[in-house]
Amino acid sequence: MIPVCPLDDLPPGESHRLDLTPPISVFRTDDGELYALDDTCTHQDASLADGWIEECAVECPLHASRFDLRTGKPDGLPAKTAVRTHPVVVVDGVIHVVLLSATEARS
Ligand code: FES
Repeated sequence: MIPVCPLDDLPPGESHRLDLTPPISVFRTDDGELYALDDTCTHQDASLADGWIEECAVECPLHASRFDLRTGKPDGLPAKTAVRTHPVVVVDGVIHVVLLSATEARS
């Protein structure tokens, strides 16, 4: 598990980018739900952490494809491919991302 930040440091409607390889971002919806996605848009090189969270999706800041935070799937062009999702857990008030192997992530 990778520690991200204290839960209190990520307000609803905000995101936190982890500079891993590849980068991963954690998003907190207005409802307080937490989700983690690969940060780089599958269309071009844009950081989804710079996008806008609306309900349970994040809108890419470059060309506005919206990725479902639960599935990573875009709602339409120009992005066609889903970004990977990652489980998020909160342990002792700290957000953590659980990194899955490539095999686990596909199943
Ligand atoms: S870079 Fe994200 S939709 Fe184009």
